[in-house]
Amino acid sequence: MKFNFDKIVNREGTNTVKYDLRRLFFGTNDVIPMWVADMEFEAPPCVTEALIKRAQHKIYGYTLKPESYFQSIINWLQKRHDWDIKKEWISSSPGVVSAVTMSVMAYTNPGDKIIVQTPVYFPFFSSITNSGRVLVNNQLQLLNGKYEIDFDDLEKKINNDAKMLVLCSPHNPGGRVWTKQELQRIGELCVKNNVVIVSDEIHSDLILRDYKHIPIASISKQISDITITLIAPSKTFNVAGLSTSVAICSSKELMKKYNDILDTNHIGFGNIFGLEALEAAYTYGEEWLEQLIDYVQDNINFAYNFVAKNMPKIKVVKPEATFLIWFDCRNLNLNDEELTKFFVNEAKVGLNVGNTFGKGGEGFMRMNVACPQSLLLQGLERIKVAYDSRFE
Ligand SMILES: Cc1ncc(COP(=O)(O)O)c(C=O)c1O
Repeated sequence: MKFNFDKIVNREGTNTVKYDLRRLFFGTNDVIPMWVADMEFEAPPCVTEALIKRAQHKIYGYTLKPESYFQSIINWLQKRHDWDIKKEWISSSPGVVSAVTMSVMAYTNPGDKIIVQTPVYFPFFSSITNSGRVLVNNQLQLLNGKYEIDFDDLEKKINNDAKMLVLCSPHNPGGRVWTKQELQRIGELCVKNNVVIVSDEIHSDLILRDYKHIPIASISKQISDITITLIAPSKTFNVAGLSTSVAICSSKELMKKYNDILDTNHIGFGNIFGLEALEAAYTYGEEWLEQLIDYVQDNINFAYNFVAKNMPKIKVVKPEATFLIWFDCRNLNLNDEELTKFFVNEAKVGLNVGNTFGKGGEGFMRMNVACPQSLLLQGLERIKVAYDSRFE
């Protein structure tokens, strides 16, 4: 392997959310942090080199997005996801969550119903409810270890005057890469009922072997014209702190409404370093990404086998994408508070508690495995020791 994902990088004392918020979040610093969804790996050299080069200029004033920036996005989506987009479809955002919130503001009114599919990435909830919109849940069903969409329920909720669906594709924390059939069915229901789709595709480049991500907007022109797709290099290349994301929409009318909100907030220029990083990553980062995916896939298999062998009461929902694994701990018979205490105080690992992801997340924990395998092993061994003393 050309890139070294085994390298341990000390992030202590760098104002890192994952490390420096441990006391606030877990009540102690004595946990291996395996929660916030960034990676323990250095960003690709092509990104670091671009950032250093730009930093050396020493003037960091207001900056335009060059043609090459747009082209890097167009080429990336073509190459990775067979999706042909046009420059006019591209807008921006500091982050995917802020783009979800801006879409909520742009396309719906206070009191409107917006559908999410729990358990799901929880900031969607506040994007909707803090804007005075009404959260409607189409809960996912865990069937034979795999999350499935309850289409009858989705149809009912769409028919009951929903205005928007916030889709998480691929799904966090369920790890599903939705199939073309599933996406088409969702898309067609939304087209028929004039429901705008906000498709959060932030994890779309982290697709594990044997799966293929399909941007929902690439399925048909009709679906494309009711969809705003949100992507970013942040998860893929570990540059979340550079606050740079992309919103894509083929409908002139929807794009204008989104851009009006962006302009009102005066945040369309973006961040110089984020723009440099995005272009470098999408232009030169593919080889690094392929190796990263292999490494993450190995970690997932390793964790899966470790848990199956040593902690049979915990089931791992095997992801098809992302570097996040979802532990089904319901057979431990602990309530969410007890489960949290077990992982924090007894196992001394900092994971995300499932119930924060909404209905259906109770009894689950989310673990981030984007770290050197030696660290992953330490985390898993800590859980095993605690498990043995409690459940064996
Ligand atoms: C599905 C999903 N959307 C959005 C985000 C965060 O995006 P941003 O930091 O760009 O707001 C995450 C981060 O974990 C995520 O998993």
